[in-house]
Amino acid sequence: MLPWPLVVSALILPVWGVFSWEKTQAKQMSEGLQQLLGSISQFLEKGKLGRDDVLGMVSREEWGAKAIGCSSKLSRPVNILVIHHVPGLECHNQTVCSQKLQELQAYHSRNSWCDVAYNFLVGDDGRVYEGVGWNVQGSHDQGYNNISLGIAFFGAQEGHSPSPAALSAMKGLISYAVKKGHLSPTHIQPLLVKSENCLVPPRKGSQKKACPHIVPRSAWGARESHCPKMTLPAKYVIILHTAGRTCSQYNECRLLVRDLQSWFMDRLNASDIGYNFLVGQDGGVYEGVGWNHQGSRTDGYNDIALSITFMGVFTGSSPNAAALEAAQDLIQCAVDKEYLAPNYLLMGHSDVSNTLSPGQALYNIIRTWPHFKH
Ligand SMILES: *[C@@H]1O[C@H](CO)[C@@H](O)[C@H](O)[C@H]1NC(C)=O
Ligand SMILES: *[C@@H]1O[C@H](CO)[C@@H](O)[C@H](O)[C@H]1NC(C)=O
Ligand SMILES: *[C@@H]1O[C@H](CO)[C@@H](O)[C@H](O)[C@H]1NC(C)=O
Repeated sequence: MLPWPLVVSALILPVWGVFSWEKTQAKQMSEGLQQLLGSISQFLEKGKLGRDDVLGMVSREEWGAKAIGCSSKLSRPVNILVIHHVPGLECHNQTVCSQKLQELQAYHSRNSWCDVAYNFLVGDDGRVYEGVGWNVQGSHDQGYNNISLGIAFFGAQEGHSPSPAALSAMKGLISYAVKKGHLSPTHIQPLLVKSENCLVPPRKGSQKKACPHIVPRSAWGARESHCPKMTLPAKYVIILHTAGRTCSQYNECRLLVRDLQSWFMDRLNASDIGYNFLVGQDGGVYEGVGWNHQGSRTDGYNDIALSITFMGVFTGSSPNAAALEAAQDLIQCAVDKEYLAPNYLLMGHSDVSNTLSPGQALYNIIRTWPHFKH
């Protein structure tokens, strides 16, 4: 194996870093990257590097970058290559990748970085997108920015490694970097740090996230009701799905929550909507009966479990990243605000009732979350 300094890390961002970096994902991801590392080494050993051009490089002009604000020069060759992955940024063609990159640049700039954080990004479309480029320092890894190139894979769904086209583009980019003297081929000491965010700069305020905004009952037009009180702090969190319509925008979600309340009250003769909180595919958290009152879907647990339901059907496909993050933030918030015991247990609806809820795809995700107890 050729020496190849490779540092793998995930830059966890509040908006894009929507999947908490669970161990299994990290493992699969880093296996994917280890394969990548292996095949790069093979390429190098077999002397197969021949191509001088970077395949399909999309320049800043082409993807519609705003003017660059970074001024720290990167002197070459650098000795370290940092490979990142930006969850939530999936894209499969140039139009969408460009648009996501514009959003990412705007987002990074709002976070007081001078530009998009990476030197280059690689899309599942097999194209390389110019970030800050070869000659300017990225802001991807504090302490390493002036001695490394930071290259990120757009997205990469949980559990999947980047597409073959993306891996091959990454290979092309790396070999180009070596051939052109941007990256040193000589630095002996392969350094494979697993995908934890151990190199991520500690960002202010990221230790304790604020509670997510909860859309109150008044905003979705709730009817009055008189539900029995919860016994707080709750000891369990139970995750459900509604097994019905889904929604992806605020107004649509508001109406759906209102319809659900009517369904519970008029059709099931329940005293109110059956959940403590509802999560939409807009990433919004909607107050159901809230912190203080009991839901009605988890017999035997209604008074001691906070029920959080994802609106939609999640047997075959999971909720999107924004929704998953919202639910996790809500759980953390519940602990912070002492509505939920710190040693709470997390369960799926199907763990306490004879039901398919929360759906297999969603269940597979929550079983990797902290505090999960079958
Ligand atoms: C790019 O992908 C998006 C969503 O996947 C699709 O709606 C769009 O038509 C595609 N555009 C091109 C040019 O292929
Ligand atoms: C990189 O930055 C560190 C700290 O700011 C500095 O000590 C080091 O000399 C720099 N290295 C290079 C190659 O510029
Ligand atoms: C609905 O619930 C109320 C009070 O819980 C009860 O008096 C009434 O009989 C129920 N109606 C039906 C149709 O089940």
